[in-house]
Amino acid sequence: MRKLFAAAGAVALALTMTACGSSGGSGDAGKASGDSGADGAKEVGVTTWWSAGSEKDGFEALSKVFKEQHPDITLKNLATSGGGGTNAKQKLAADLAAKNPPDTYQSHAGAELSADIASGYVEDVSSLYDEFKLREAFPKSLIDRLTVDGKIYSVPSNIHRANVVWANPKVMEKAGLDPKNPPKDIKGWIADMEKLKGAGVKFPITVGDTWTQLELLETVLISDLGVDKYNGLMDGKTDWAGADVKAALEDYAKIISYTDPSLYTEDWEPAMKPILEGKSAYNVMGDWAPPAFEHANMEWGKDYVTFPVPGNEGVFDFLADSFTMPVGAKHPEGTKAWLQTISSVEGQIAFNKAKGSIPSRSDLTPEQIKEFSGYQQSAMESFGKDTIVSSIAHGAALPLKATEAMKAALGKFMAAKDVDALQKDFVAAVKSAV
Ligand code: GAL
Repeated sequence: MRKLFAAAGAVALALTMTACGSSGGSGDAGKASGDSGADGAKEVGVTTWWSAGSEKDGFEALSKVFKEQHPDITLKNLATSGGGGTNAKQKLAADLAAKNPPDTYQSHAGAELSADIASGYVEDVSSLYDEFKLREAFPKSLIDRLTVDGKIYSVPSNIHRANVVWANPKVMEKAGLDPKNPPKDIKGWIADMEKLKGAGVKFPITVGDTWTQLELLETVLISDLGVDKYNGLMDGKTDWAGADVKAALEDYAKIISYTDPSLYTEDWEPAMKPILEGKSAYNVMGDWAPPAFEHANMEWGKDYVTFPVPGNEGVFDFLADSFTMPVGAKHPEGTKAWLQTISSVEGQIAFNKAKGSIPSRSDLTPEQIKEFSGYQQSAMESFGKDTIVSSIAHGAALPLKATEAMKAALGKFMAAKDVDALQKDFVAAVKSAV
């Protein structure tokens, strides 16, 4: 599979070059400077799914820095609501296919962009990495995940961690559980959920719609398979049809039996609410969650606690939001300005402080690091020392087509609860993207 993805990258290059020649794309991101756009207006339209809560706060913080750094360019927020990009990605796919791209769009560092690269939808922005000195500013683990056949097609604004349990300590204590000593593996965690149920907690854990289900599931795979076998799922070395994957899916099914079905079509915030309200103990979510607790005046370490999903200790389940320069974007100067702001020290500090993520730059001073919350400083420390794996749910690990098919399979699973069918669907989902 790795070979095939690499081959897709080579095709991508050829297609990108062809597309640049025929569509009037700049063909060289660096050349965008000084170009005031096809319609003469100085603006940049930014497509994201950051339309509410901490995500909107983050975008607004970034807009403020953008206005300071580029006062002559109008920033247009083209956000489509729906966590994890559920709706934004559909609209974007149609716009890209119709050759009507926004000036820049949110994607994820890693495999998610591979189909857009292969279709020639995005420019190679490697020259901006040299111009903005990003090769020195970003950690190697990130540059590696962004590089396709020696080229880079997007600029990251942040790094998130996906394998975090957000827990209400008071609820845990009801069942005699110690919030400071979570279990070490999935079986132990399931045993704790059973204790919570026995103590009268109707739904010990919550989960929302299919992208949140996929995020929970990937953390169970990390625990049950271990890092090497988990990584092997992405490069073909681990068999999705194997007995060890089946055992992990059975653990997932057991965990789902402790969740509230009324939340299965909800976004992450309504699914997190029972944790804030002290009705449920656990939710597995990325670290865009802290501002939700902060807005409710809940203090980290006291009113809510966090720990890696049991069995994920020492593993950082990575994702990064990353912005593109689409081929044929109408305002390449605006796009370039946006990519400059999101990768600048000022932009990254303002954005990440509001959003809960950590900067994708690793060159912040100790004083700048102190400006971040206790949780964020702990995430920075983990990113520096943990083993990094790529998130499936958030585009780092597999092409978009595979991820979308896996989400559909999980939706089906909620109705049928058929582990064998889920496993077969996953095998087909991963094959479909090759
Ligand atoms: C992720 C994205 C995050 C956050 C989250 C919830 O895919 O990377 O930045 O927006 O979805 O919507």
